[in-house]
Amino acid sequence: MTRVNLQSLTRDKSFYINSMNEYQYRATKILEKINELASISEDEDCIIRRFGTEKFMEGANKVLQWMKEARLQARIDNMGNVRGKLFCNEEAAKTLVIASHIDTVINAGKFDGPLGVIMGLDLIEHLIQAKTKLPFHVELIPFSDEEGARFHTTYLGSTTVAGSFDKNLLEKKDSAGITLNEVIEKIGGDITKLPGDAISQKDWLGYFEIHIEQGPVLYEKNIPVALVDSIAGQRRAEICFKGMAGHAGTVPMNMRNDALTCAAEFILEVEKLAKENNIVATVGRINITHAATNVIPGEVVCSLDMRCADENILSSLYRAIKNKTEVICLKRNIEIEWNPVQETKPAVCDKNMKELLTESIKDAGYELVHLVSGAGHDAVAISKVSPVAMLFVRCFKGISHNPLENVELNDIAAAILVCDNFIQRMINHHNR
Ligand code: HGY
Ligand code: MN
Ligand code: MN
Repeated sequence: MTRVNLQSLTRDKSFYINSMNEYQYRATKILEKINELASISEDEDCIIRRFGTEKFMEGANKVLQWMKEARLQARIDNMGNVRGKLFCNEEAAKTLVIASHIDTVINAGKFDGPLGVIMGLDLIEHLIQAKTKLPFHVELIPFSDEEGARFHTTYLGSTTVAGSFDKNLLEKKDSAGITLNEVIEKIGGDITKLPGDAISQKDWLGYFEIHIEQGPVLYEKNIPVALVDSIAGQRRAEICFKGMAGHAGTVPMNMRNDALTCAAEFILEVEKLAKENNIVATVGRINITHAATNVIPGEVVCSLDMRCADENILSSLYRAIKNKTEVICLKRNIEIEWNPVQETKPAVCDKNMKELLTESIKDAGYELVHLVSGAGHDAVAISKVSPVAMLFVRCFKGISHNPLENVELNDIAAAILVCDNFIQRMINHHNR
């Protein structure tokens, strides 16, 4: 297999016109699968595959079929993760997990999650075709719930594999009042067998996730890949503002307990605090109970999502916005219910795996870019039990969680070259 420096190829356009090199061919096959998976959606007008829905399971079974065609030992576990394993000859060997997620946000792009899963499948197929002698097992895991679009909890699949799934979540209900427990049963899972789906800490060699950057840096720098140093911590909460519903035409402005104007002041305060402290904070969901044009909103529920790579800064700003919100509510005579939803500490990628990935990026002829991920990833859950590494792939203008999300064929080809290098270095490192 000729190792070609894709950088020169990107300059020499004639090469593409005359012959499809190996990496571009593999990238073409990956894009075909990404498009096929994208066509499986709860809504024919946009991409939605939420945990445990019929369409999610159709997508999971499609990936299961691809795994079986690649001759992996494949199954769907009790939390809906698809598990495909390539065994090495040594039974007691550790496992390198290559993974990402196949659930999506609502109105999603095609690449957030599936790129890492389908590239992982390609890398394993390539190991099989090349008859590579592996000193460790390799397991591909398309996780079932990274986005949390159905139950507003994230990492259900990866915490199961990490052995840290919180059983208290089983009674969480989706917008139709169906519990997580009921969905697990419906997809054929058995909650008593969830512990058996975990990979025990002693068996992890490492975790590798390929993911779109979902930010603009690589696009601006015109570089196809980046090394992820760490993944930002997250604090999420659900806040309920309780005022007094009333007639829009008869209650004077100075006599209102308007829950929505209170929430609006909170939302602007969140934006101000984030800008002043150079973090990111978002109110992405808001719901007015019994909303009507001619009714003063009596109750409003909204989400809060705060991210920062520094755990102390994140905690102190989370406390600050909570205190500030209580002051706003007192001033407006509004009752507040503040419900924490998620707290994930920043995850640091493994030094040794990063060194091998750094060499692989440089060996492929690319400038090394270091990035901190503002987006959460399943690597966060797995980092509690295994060394983790992530490779970011450039996406169009950094757009994500949006149907405009796009990745160029040649960037996938570049990432394949880097990942082939990386796995080979993992093998060499293990065999030393
Ligand atoms: O929210 C996130 O960061 C990820 O896309 N789930
Ligand atoms: Mn996402
Ligand atoms: Mn993602």
